[in-house]
Amino acid sequence: MKQTLQQNLSALIQEGIDSISLPNQPELLYEPIRYTLDLGGKRIRPLLCMLSCGICGGIVDNALPSALAIEVLHNFTLIHDDIMDQAEIRRGHPSVYKKWDEATAILSGDAMFGKAYELLNFYGIEDAYTKTEFLSIHKSFQYAVKTVCEGQALDMQFVSTDEVSIELYLQMIIGKTSALLSSAMEMGALSAHDNTNAETLFEIGKQLGIAFQIQDDLLDVIADPKKFGKKVGGDIYEGKKTYLSLLALERGNNEQNAVLNKVLSSSSNSDGDVKKVIDLYKELNVIDDTITEIDSHYNKAMAAINNFDDSDYKSELIKLLLFLKNREY
Ligand code: IPE
Ligand code: IPE
Ligand code: MG
Ligand code: MG
Ligand code: MG
Repeated sequence: MKQTLQQNLSALIQEGIDSISLPNQPELLYEPIRYTLDLGGKRIRPLLCMLSCGICGGIVDNALPSALAIEVLHNFTLIHDDIMDQAEIRRGHPSVYKKWDEATAILSGDAMFGKAYELLNFYGIEDAYTKTEFLSIHKSFQYAVKTVCEGQALDMQFVSTDEVSIELYLQMIIGKTSALLSSAMEMGALSAHDNTNAETLFEIGKQLGIAFQIQDDLLDVIADPKKFGKKVGGDIYEGKKTYLSLLALERGNNEQNAVLNKVLSSSSNSDGDVKKVIDLYKELNVIDDTITEIDSHYNKAMAAINNFDDSDYKSELIKLLLFLKNREY
């Protein structure tokens, strides 16, 4: 049977991931990397990268080094993020620091970071791009590295302060989540020799990232535990500032905010405490308004995608956006 474009691209990405050569030794370094990559995930960043290359009229194979590099970078951030968030479940399985230990998770993450750069350099300067394009791709990748760290730092800083506005929260998620999506899309365009659309696709990635992270915050509250692959309520247990918690605090009366603040600032919450917070979110209409906010960012991205000339890549990008919008994990 003829494969669809999406199946073709996913197969290319999977082959690329499978062909990442990792030695067997030291086992404690490489085994957690294999474990993480084998658990897969949605692989949306490499897909966005390849589709961005295609929508700009490029040869999608040329985007493969960037696509693989950003996916490995993403997987590395997850390994370290789970230590920071004390999150025991990832993709339905024990997170790396839980299955091994924190030191192992830190070191395996570091090795993945190096691997990501190795993948990015796969074609070198000579073959697929000019020297200037190669440097622009590197610059975009480095932007993602730096910005994701800044976002993660703000995320941690926000746990111990009450002074977080929605505006600051947006700055935090544009760092921790949009950066990788923006760069994935920008690098795709750059791999197609298209500097002008690189900027547009960077912006689309930013809007997708904002929508994606607010939705991640929402799923943390309402997801079906069997489908989510992470611990439902994890952000509440950890006292994270999420779009939902900030909106609730903006709307709550003194009594409601006292409950919210008590649970969000404690590190020893019971399931009952978490349920109290979720009930407050419902009472304050936070869930519905969060969905509206998510939609508004997906719609901005969709409008910008619609400005591109029609192509199979454009249709596929729209399908991917709709998949993301309706995702349950
Ligand atoms: C998880 O990203 C981290 C966030 C930015 C919320 P994904 O939801 O893309 O993770 P995987 O790769 O599909 O597991
Ligand atoms: C995701 O933030 C950002 C990064 C992993 C860099 P979260 O901490 O919300 O992601 P999940 O929910 O653990 O996937
Ligand atoms: Mg996390
Ligand atoms: Mg986190
Ligand atoms: Mg989350």
